[in-house]
Amino acid sequence: MNKPIQISAKTWWVGVNDRETDIFEALWPLPKGISYNAYLIDDEKVALIDTVKNCYTPSLLDKIKALIGTGKPVDYLIINHMEPDHSGAIEIIARMYPEIIIVGNAKTIEYLEGYYGIRRNVKVINDGDTLDLGEHKLSFHLTPMVHWPETMMTYAVRDKLLFSGDAFGGFGALTGGLFDDEVNVDYYEDETLRYYSNIVGKFSPMVQKAFDKLKGLDIKIIAATHGPVWRTNPGLIIDQYDRWSRYESERGVVLAYASMYGNTKQMAEAVSRGLVEGGIRGIRMHDVSRTHISYMLKDCWRYQGIILGSVTYDMNPLITMKHLTDLLEAKQLKNRALGIFGSYGWSGGGVKYLRQFAERTRWDLVEPVVEAQQRPSTDVLEQCRQLGRNMAAKISGNEH
Ligand code: FEO
Repeated sequence: MNKPIQISAKTWWVGVNDRETDIFEALWPLPKGISYNAYLIDDEKVALIDTVKNCYTPSLLDKIKALIGTGKPVDYLIINHMEPDHSGAIEIIARMYPEIIIVGNAKTIEYLEGYYGIRRNVKVINDGDTLDLGEHKLSFHLTPMVHWPETMMTYAVRDKLLFSGDAFGGFGALTGGLFDDEVNVDYYEDETLRYYSNIVGKFSPMVQKAFDKLKGLDIKIIAATHGPVWRTNPGLIIDQYDRWSRYESERGVVLAYASMYGNTKQMAEAVSRGLVEGGIRGIRMHDVSRTHISYMLKDCWRYQGIILGSVTYDMNPLITMKHLTDLLEAKQLKNRALGIFGSYGWSGGGVKYLRQFAERTRWDLVEPVVEAQQRPSTDVLEQCRQLGRNMAAKISGNEH
């Protein structure tokens, strides 16, 4: 991936792979890396669409030079998104091409000055405005809060190509293949959902608004700022983003527990058995002190049932469980069935907190709520199995 890759006539991928960043946004692990996709249209006028994270600027410049040489300028820099993983090369690009016109909406231009102190040679576009490059004509479509206020998309009319910014993107560096027909899309699906739930999910209603806005466009190719370019089956990624942003779920259960000395874990084991007795096969079981929260959030976004169990610590759930419930509330995940259980040694509090969480989320609470003092008795473990069976009866749909 060290050379430009042609997407359509006069249009090239000039992005980079990041296999060095361990934690994206200082929160989300990147075991498979991530790509920052930028694109260049080499027409009568040359347009660069988005850039890359600052430290990868040399690789971006190499690709631009490989296409247009050193004598020809880049005429336009179109900014679909100002987050620094895409805007990090702007200062250097503006210095290299002093006559470049930077194109963005009013919010983009505000952030451009705030991040990089750039005020000159800017072109402020409004929703639906167009720009002629020669053979290519671009139209601009504002999609605010997907997932920043300035986010927008750029559509290349002749090729029906949508430069979508973060939307339709995912974690995972490109492993040699750029296009959906060059990669195993199943490899990317899980990392795309993790990206969606971690980064974009909170703004799902705005993703739906963006879908409404894009209905008028005939889209044949989707070129997002992360992940593969969808030229063979763009409908697949559109369908996934549509389902995820409507909080649709699959038949299956996330069973996340926090245990200090194994008593709450025993309860979780009994719940899992009840789930299986009830016919559930899609079970994702997590010890919240061991699994990174990024992956638990991803699973919660996928599955219809969520069962949380926690030991009590300082009259609250264990902090790792509290971290998970805080994140689920912050991301405003909706339409889930919830089961809760837990234990305590000398003071309750863990289950009480989870009950309050259930009230705040308004998820569908599945009975019984099970609580044990110290070691769970045979009766308590049977209640846990019943909770699993009841959850299985509650949820419906296709299982994966
Ligand atoms: Fe990929 Fe919101 O930056």
